[in-house]
Amino acid sequence: GHTELRSILTFTINLARMAGTLMLEGSQAIQSTSDVNAKKNSVDLVTEYDVAVENLVMSEIKKVYPNFGFIGEESYSSGTRPELTDEPTFCVDPIDGTTNFVHGFPFATCISIGLIYEKRPVLGVIYNPFLEYLYTGIEGQGSYLTRGTGQPMKLPLASPKPLPSLSKALIAVEWGSDRGVPTINKKSSSFVRLLGDESVSGGRMAHSLRSLGSAAMNFSMVAQGGFDLYWEIGCWPWDVCAGIVIAQEAGGVVTGSHAVLATADPSVDPFKVTPEVLTGRKYMVIRKLPDTPQET
Ligand code: IPD
Repeated sequence: GHTELRSILTFTINLARMAGTLMLEGSQAIQSTSDVNAKKNSVDLVTEYDVAVENLVMSEIKKVYPNFGFIGEESYSSGTRPELTDEPTFCVDPIDGTTNFVHGFPFATCISIGLIYEKRPVLGVIYNPFLEYLYTGIEGQGSYLTRGTGQPMKLPLASPKPLPSLSKALIAVEWGSDRGVPTINKKSSSFVRLLGDESVSGGRMAHSLRSLGSAAMNFSMVAQGGFDLYWEIGCWPWDVCAGIVIAQEAGGVVTGSHAVLATADPSVDPFKVTPEVLTGRKYMVIRKLPDTPQET
């Protein structure tokens, strides 16, 4: 029920702040070691702090919610792959934006903690300890940004601009970790179609593209209103679980189909998030709900 979700939210916020403290310590340690350069050579980075933060989060959850399920990026990578049931299940990315974390790029390094119930994401907390930006959301109860020790501000921060067409949009995209040339070529040509002049973008040249390097922060920025849209192929559930709630509660649409971006067709129905979206590494699209007819 509502009261229960509110108390889980309080717990999760405290947990995210605790994890944030560990991330800050980790960042200091990493930036002052020499093997940071070796780490920077890999495209799919993981640090001891990803593991340490996940262990911290997991053990705190076990103490308070021993019967809840747990899906975490690091335990998943090391082979613990529980089936998604109808039971409440935490879904955690201990450090989203690990590449930023390793490089000391503070704008998009965060912890993302989502709660799934009956296979739907129902609660999300995303915390960037470097900026002290805390994004929270509960299904049906809105989403909020709290900066530092300030008061929670309802999202989106400004009344949402309709998205009349891609030509007015600031779009978040990501390069991903698959650097196979066919994949990178396909992505690059999508980006060219979005950014290029009339001859390729057909009258819907985007204002610009951004890559924050953190799926959770991209979702949060759509919720806040800074991005109009975020498009990525191949996210994992822990990248998106908390962000889905936060973005949807701010009026965003989340879909597992790339059709919206590919066609910019307003008749494409964004569908409700399904377990396949959470578990299937499908395409993700978020955008603000259009409330005016779109240009074609
Ligand atoms: C990654 C980041 C990145 C996105 C990838 C994610 P990680 O998560 O969110 O921006 O492009 O899809 O897997 O590895 O930093 O936790």
